[in-house]
Amino acid sequence: MRWLIVEDYEALSGEAAELVAREVREKPDAVLGLATGSTPVGMYQELIRQHQAGNLDFSRITTFNLDEYVGLSATHPQSYRVFMHETFFQHVNVQPERIHIPCGDAADLDEECDRYERAIQAAGGIDLQILGIGGNGHIGFNEPGSPVSSRTRVVDLAQRTITDNARFFASIEEVPTKAVTMGIQTILEAKKIVLLACGASKAEAMQRMLEGEITPGVPASLLREHPDVTVIMDRQAAARL
Ligand code: GLP
Repeated sequence: MRWLIVEDYEALSGEAAELVAREVREKPDAVLGLATGSTPVGMYQELIRQHQAGNLDFSRITTFNLDEYVGLSATHPQSYRVFMHETFFQHVNVQPERIHIPCGDAADLDEECDRYERAIQAAGGIDLQILGIGGNGHIGFNEPGSPVSSRTRVVDLAQRTITDNARFFASIEEVPTKAVTMGIQTILEAKKIVLLACGASKAEAMQRMLEGEITPGVPASLLREHPDVTVIMDRQAAARL
């Protein structure tokens, strides 16, 4: 596992975008695993900038998003589908049929989860997976206690996650209590993983991830058993290391 501690959010976004851009240039038909949350927004902006400058072509790229809330329609402003279109896809040339985001409003969610796993396998697996980290050490929506062998499934959100994500909703009552998420095993099967962490609110999670016990109690700590992980964090997120 490589760690990179950078000065600030701009540097973090630039380093992360560079790793994605390198993958896209080396393998124009790469499969990217993408993340939501506020942390990767700057990375997406830098990738858009490079694309609009004519330096980055996503036309043969396939993408799979990590997760989606259950119960929000695909057009709900806080759905991860809307977030990804507004933040990234509508500004670049990823082909719509190559964009995959779990449907959190599918009639049969278990079938949707199986379909999503099969689609990842059919695409040849994920080459590069981008991750953020929850304040409680979650990755995707794999909350503490998620089994190492887990695959895409419906999960209950931890109370801490509901509280953390309430800032995006009008009130805490509106935050969904369930989500569809790739599992820990799905994530660990990615060939390369890049985890981003920014700000003091992530300092405790980063310490537990990098220096604590490797345990499902801290889902991000399980990444230490993966052979190709790069962690990029700013000074505040690294403050307790
Ligand atoms: C959500 C997402 C995670 C993300 C986390 C952190 O819970 N499901 O994938 O890593 O938020 O978000 P932020 O980057 O806004 O701190």
